[in-house]
Amino acid sequence: MTDRPFYFGTNFKMHQTPTESRQFVSDLHERLGSPDSVQLFVIPPYTSLVWAVEEAVDTGIWVGAQNMHFAERGAFTGEISAAMLQAAGVDMVMLGHAERRQLFGETDAALHKKVQAALRAGLRILLCVGENAEEKAFGIEAETVARQLKIALHNFRSDDLPRLIVAYEPVWSIGEGGTPAGVADVEYTARHIRATLVTLFGTAGQTVPLLYGGSVNLDNCVDYARLDLIDGLFVGRAAWQVAGYVEVFQAGFAAKTEATS
Ligand code: 13P
Repeated sequence: MTDRPFYFGTNFKMHQTPTESRQFVSDLHERLGSPDSVQLFVIPPYTSLVWAVEEAVDTGIWVGAQNMHFAERGAFTGEISAAMLQAAGVDMVMLGHAERRQLFGETDAALHKKVQAALRAGLRILLCVGENAEEKAFGIEAETVARQLKIALHNFRSDDLPRLIVAYEPVWSIGEGGTPAGVADVEYTARHIRATLVTLFGTAGQTVPLLYGGSVNLDNCVDYARLDLIDGLFVGRAAWQVAGYVEVFQAGFAAKTEATS
């Protein structure tokens, strides 16, 4: 952790209507305002984006999309381009979420193209990386995240680093069947993520915010947030209601503030 803000956000996955997403942003801002040294974000489904963006104006809350296609346009029924997201006013696009990789066959090579397309459209990128259970069982967490980063960020220029955020989300720790990761495991792999960023970009690789996600909740958020290597938390289920979002954020931010003071 340097002088970066504390990042905190939620991925709604396939939940929330446009009305619910808009209400969420509105309630969130009412509860938290625009706290200093903090960057809040929400990542609703596509259909909610325009409404959430409208509600988020002047709140400081970033609204992100969950995915996009790498092509600029074309016969890709059901897909959304980077330019469409940019025109919708989103602040960020999440790329490479574990569920996209696992359930929809998203490859590192496709992610490389998506990263390039997002950059061309001027979008900020939240790039998710993390090993699955089998890779963990074979002890190749470090190699896995290094491969994911090196391919997705191939030809990524240092000048574009201010537009990159990385989230470490071990596949086995995410969602209903997920097991919360031990702090030592998070620290081990986060260290390798940082080292890979430094390999790729030199000291500029130190500036990329690194978030942690995977079954983060009120009980464990404090331990993850305290880690020096972790700049913020990326939460699913525990933050799908504003009350939960606020509680986990407040506990995590307090822990980070205490750890760095
Ligand atoms: P959970 O917090 O529900 O495990 O989900 C995390 C996640 O996938 C965030 O992108």
